[in-house]
Amino acid sequence: MTLRSQPKLELHLHLEGAAPPAFIRGLAREKHEDIGGIFDERGHYSYTDFWHFLKVYEVATSVLRSPEDYRRLTLAVLEESAAQGVIYSETFLSPDFCGGRDLSAWRDYLAAIEDAAREAEATMGITLRAIVTPIRHFGPEKARETARCAAETAGRFVTGFGIAGDEKVLEPKDYLWSFDCAREAGLGITAHAGEWRGPDHIRATLRDLKPSRIGHGVRAIEDLALVDELAETGTVLEVCPGSNIALGLYPDWRKHPIGQLHHRGVKVTVSTDDPPFFHTTMTREWDRLADAFDWDQGVFDTLNRTALDAAFCDAETKAEIA
Ligand code: ADE
Ligand code: ZN
Repeated sequence: MTLRSQPKLELHLHLEGAAPPAFIRGLAREKHEDIGGIFDERGHYSYTDFWHFLKVYEVATSVLRSPEDYRRLTLAVLEESAAQGVIYSETFLSPDFCGGRDLSAWRDYLAAIEDAAREAEATMGITLRAIVTPIRHFGPEKARETARCAAETAGRFVTGFGIAGDEKVLEPKDYLWSFDCAREAGLGITAHAGEWRGPDHIRATLRDLKPSRIGHGVRAIEDLALVDELAETGTVLEVCPGSNIALGLYPDWRKHPIGQLHHRGVKVTVSTDDPPFFHTTMTREWDRLADAFDWDQGVFDTLNRTALDAAFCDAETKAEIA
């Protein structure tokens, strides 16, 4: 089956993680940088495990050094998303990579990214919004600077705040100040949890950071009381099955917990996370889920409706997409 032409909403996409390898190689060539070690013989990103993936991600990102680089990246990424039927996308952006958390530089990067998003909306029919995201393993002080950048630029384009990176570093409460700052600025809140740590970490994240959405969250399945709680509170999971399988969390699509989570009433959505790293696209995610769980168009309509309800954009934008 292929569901390529169906309209799709995607809530969990890292902009640098969506960079086509050929795009990153082209930029490296322009800047006379040798980053060949991060690619395999076929030109794909190459890594051994999640922690190595994070390193490779940072090396690839190191060639993105100006607002113009990010403008070109955004256009390349949105072109691919639009080709997969994506009509609305929320992308993680990190001031760590965009101007080193300097507010004035961050504004310049943001202007370039937003400019590309406007162009893509006009020419490709895809709407983009941004979730500002500290990198957990860069530590709480840098997260605070990131939160200040987020709060200063919150608005129609910057609509959310999250946290990514190595989930095993520190605890949710260590990032409390940053999340309170972002929430007070009116940003929607999400946090990666339940990918590399289990149910207790999801519980601590819900208690301390108070997100309406969880990035991944799939390891909630190890505690059915938590699954019931997620269903009752309507917490939305940004599930990225292809990412989880590529990183070895689950051996295959049939063993992925998204089927059970959906069945038990948890609000799930589907995203690609870092598509070229995991050899996936939104179409592939939907096709594999249809095959693994016999999901029909009704289920995919529900995923889209859940994503629209949980999206961090304003009501006017939602009405335009619906
Ligand atoms: N950054 C990019 N992809 C990520 C993932 N799957 N988990 C945590 N941080 C990330
Ligand atoms: Zn992610």
